[in-house]
Amino acid sequence: MDKIVIKGGKKLCGEVNISTAKNSILPIIAASILSGDKCIIEDAPMLEDVFVISDVLRTIRTKIDIDNNTNRILIDTSNIKDCEASSDLVKKMRASFLIMGSMIARFGKFRLSLPGGCNIGTRPIDLHLKGFSALGAEVSVGHGYVEAQAKKLIGNKIYLDFPSVGATENIMMAATTAEGETIIENAAEEPEIEDLAKFLNCMGANIIGAGTGTIRIIGVNELKGTTHKPIYDRIEAGTFMTAAAITRSKIKINGINEGHLKPVIAKLTEAGVSIEIEGSSMIVDADKELKPIDIKTMPYPGFPTDMQSQMSGLLCSVHGTSIITETIFENRFMHATEMKRMGANIKIDGRSAVIEGVNKLTGAEVRATDLRAGAALILCGLIAEGETEVTDIYHVDRGYVNIEKKLHGLGADIERLKM
Ligand code: EPZ
Repeated sequence: MDKIVIKGGKKLCGEVNISTAKNSILPIIAASILSGDKCIIEDAPMLEDVFVISDVLRTIRTKIDIDNNTNRILIDTSNIKDCEASSDLVKKMRASFLIMGSMIARFGKFRLSLPGGCNIGTRPIDLHLKGFSALGAEVSVGHGYVEAQAKKLIGNKIYLDFPSVGATENIMMAATTAEGETIIENAAEEPEIEDLAKFLNCMGANIIGAGTGTIRIIGVNELKGTTHKPIYDRIEAGTFMTAAAITRSKIKINGINEGHLKPVIAKLTEAGVSIEIEGSSMIVDADKELKPIDIKTMPYPGFPTDMQSQMSGLLCSVHGTSIITETIFENRFMHATEMKRMGANIKIDGRSAVIEGVNKLTGAEVRATDLRAGAALILCGLIAEGETEVTDIYHVDRGYVNIEKKLHGLGADIERLKM
């Protein structure tokens, strides 16, 4: 179990290259099941979650070659079987549930372990199942498993009670080869949905409106293989923007899409950070006094919940009172307890965190409770007096490629200790 050790107080400088998006590549790997042809993903992020979903597909006899040197993934589902995927792996990473829609579309039936909840919330899948049923699948849940079967999926109009990212993706994948047209209303609008639709359309699907609240999928007979490079990871980019802000530094970030970062750019600008876009790069200059701000997480294009922990860390260092409201997940303030060990002043009141900026944070041993909380604690360690040890780093490795190497490249005094 690795830990990351940071000696705080160093300014950052130079530039960092952002990897492609975890939350894009996971559904794209699931979507490759829809065709028996080979699919190739270029410039893939070498993340723990990518390795886990690849292992899930291997348990159903998919051939996946991951080349660490070229960051290329070759997926061959020609021998895939509708046998059961490993429950342990599905419970290990709930995004594995994203293969359900593709498997029902390809084989007409599939049985999969119910994905676990996680530290940030119960993570239900009722909207996924509502979508599969609306497409004509017979869905049953029992003994910790979901089972779905349908001779043929039939297009339908589906309204999502909540614009769930995963449910939108799973239904979109299932509907690609359904008979007739499917309309998803109140669909999630995240950029990763658009990227998945682009991948599916390159496979021969007919999807219109991805990235808006209404997505139309006109069923086609079959899909073919394709090659795809995922979009850059807007949450990793936001994390490094926040690293510049918390250390009051000026850095350059390469591999950004301004349109995907609008809410993060808006809130950091409101706090006083200067942000200059140069094509697919940005200059973030925070070498100044910053102001407290209020943030409310919302479905895209609102402020992303995946940036909430990082911003909480930043606002602990900004004089004045900031209020952060988390509307997406019911338990996403676990980083607050750990930050208080470093001297932060955070009071949790239901779905809101009231943060009073403090003059300094002090280094401590803290624990990553989830992926983004771990990243946020590393950011706090960058400015804490003395040494900070962040344990349970496996959470962070799920969503960040070599985070300590990238921060070290920007001048941070940071290292990973293998335990
Ligand atoms: C995706 O999770 C992301 N994961 C999450 O990123 C992200 O935080 C989340 O979307 C919201 O943006 C991946 O893309 C792999 P949801 P997902 O379904 O699809 C409720 C990270 O840090 N809901 O949009 O699971 C649910 O309880 C991770 O990279 C239902 O009620 O998110 C939650 O309150 C964390 N019923 C809300 O919707 C359902 O059937 C958002 O969930 C599904 C969801």
